[in-house]
Amino acid sequence: MRFDNKVAVVTGGASGIGRASAEILAARGAAVGVLDLEGEVGRSIVEKIKAGNGRAVFCPVNVADAAQVEFAIESAREAFGTIDILVVSAGIQRYGNALTTLYEQWAEVMSVNLNGAWYAARSCLPDMVERGGAIVNVASVQSLASQANVLAYTVSKHALIGLTRSMAMDFAGVNVRVNAVCPGAVDTPMLRWAASLDSNPQSVFDACEQMHPLGRIAQPEEVGEVVAFLAHDRASFVTGAVWTVDGGLLTCIGGSPQANDE
Ligand SMILES: NC(=O)c1ccc[n+]([C@@H]2O[C@H](COP(=O)([O-])OP(=O)(O)OC[C@H]3O[C@@H](n4cnc5c(N)ncnc54)[C@H](O)[C@@H]3O)[C@@H](O)[C@H]2O)c1
Repeated sequence: MRFDNKVAVVTGGASGIGRASAEILAARGAAVGVLDLEGEVGRSIVEKIKAGNGRAVFCPVNVADAAQVEFAIESAREAFGTIDILVVSAGIQRYGNALTTLYEQWAEVMSVNLNGAWYAARSCLPDMVERGGAIVNVASVQSLASQANVLAYTVSKHALIGLTRSMAMDFAGVNVRVNAVCPGAVDTPMLRWAASLDSNPQSVFDACEQMHPLGRIAQPEEVGEVVAFLAHDRASFVTGAVWTVDGGLLTCIGGSPQANDE
């Protein structure tokens, strides 16, 4: 599955699922714009891609700021000529319910997880409308269900599905495909940070592993592979899709009787 002559930009490309997606796309021939807040680590990802004979450029950005997003994507366009593929992976998680979530937290989560996705799409779409393109939004199982005490995150991720479907409809006629992946728990700095909030972080990891029917959490590359497929022309008839990458998590209903072998 090659991406020769394709240009991709990946928000949140310095870490976790975004990093894995950027590395997979670059390893298969795409020129990649790595967009992230974290300059030092983002530049190190770009250096790693270049060391493997890939093409990449780091573009610093706060995705919550529309002007910064436009500037960062213009930098990637200047480096590589156009944008064919957008992967939106920049995201943050904050905890709280409808009573305890602060207005500032709500605004921060919406700005990054939802507004940032729209700003990035808005900046890439002019190229894609001309030549076709693919957008993959990294949503979550919390786009389709919810944990307790993650109000703003869950709302932002549900809304990201709305953004995905809406853009899929609006740009299908010009061959811009827009899809979302919904990962379960993935071993990334975000998950490790969330676990660190618990007095027993290992118990959070253990619980995460047990809740997935596949009996483990995912590695970022396992999500990156699905992102890459959806971004590739082989997924040419897939648009508006909401693709779970969750080890069976959302398929599982507990409560079946245990087999009695006696
Ligand atoms: N890890 C999981 O278990 C999991 C599960 C489901 C969905 N997700 C989603 O996957 C995406 C990637 O998460 P991850 O686990 O790889 O997290 P991560 O923390 O490893 O990576 C997120 C990246 O986004 C960047 N970022 C955050 N805010 C930004 C901003 N304002 N501007 C630019 N960059 C910003 C961070 O610097 C970081 O590099 C997120 O949208 C997250 O909600 C993660």
